Amino acid sequence: MTKINGLLTKIVCVAIFSITLFAKDTLYVGTNAEFAPFEYLEYNKIVGFDIELIKEIGNIIDKDIKVKNISFDGLLPALEAKKIDIIIAGMTITEDRKKFVDFSDAYFSAKQVIILKKDVNNINSLNDLVDKKTGVILGYTGDLIVSKIKGINKEQYNSTSGGIIALLSGKIDAFVLDSAPSKNYIKKNKNLKIVELDIAEENYAIAIRKNQDNLVFQINLALKKLKSNGVYDKLLEKYFK
Ligand code: ARG
Repeated sequence: MTKINGLLTKIVCVAIFSITLFAKDTLYVGTNAEFAPFEYLEYNKIVGFDIELIKEIGNIIDKDIKVKNISFDGLLPALEAKKIDIIIAGMTITEDRKKFVDFSDAYFSAKQVIILKKDVNNINSLNDLVDKKTGVILGYTGDLIVSKIKGINKEQYNSTSGGIIALLSGKIDAFVLDSAPSKNYIKKNKNLKIVELDIAEENYAIAIRKNQDNLVFQINLALKKLKSNGVYDKLLEKYFK
């Protein structure tokens, strides 16, 4: 009896040991899924360029990826509170955000653009927005840029779709947003157009809690690999061509 018990104990121990040894760690990833084509909902599933990119990174660094959908301005607090481990959300590297988080290497460059109704011809630059009602999304880099221009009548929205609806219904004259999601909206609304701006590019990167140098290092290595093995280009092709 004791022999059998001893054997059982051994088997149980080996089983537990192997499970803990081979079970992948989970990386909880925060995003805000209203930023197509980077992240958006399709039949309630979070999909998009960023989501596929982070899953590929997960494969390389051997982590299970679980994505959580959070409001954009809730992402940094969720990271700080350890509710998530990293953020991928088309998030621009800014000096201000760098005070709170570390960023991976950049994986995409973008610019802000102005979205207008097709028949509006007197707005061609940020300065033309003075005295105009301009929509932005609360806390997005577009919000920061517009806030620097004196005399702009800024209206903050909580979601991109909210801003587009306001523009279409004439509540605002213009809407400032990142280029790729803007192009996506233009495709769907034939009476809207984009004005490109002569301003600096922004870089999107993955945000990681501070003092996690090893994770930053692994993610950067994985990004390099995906750029050199063609996977990154395939994703670009799938979502931006
Ligand atoms: N690039 C802009 C920023 O960092 C907007 C990002 C919005 N992303 C999103 N998933 N909703 O502020």
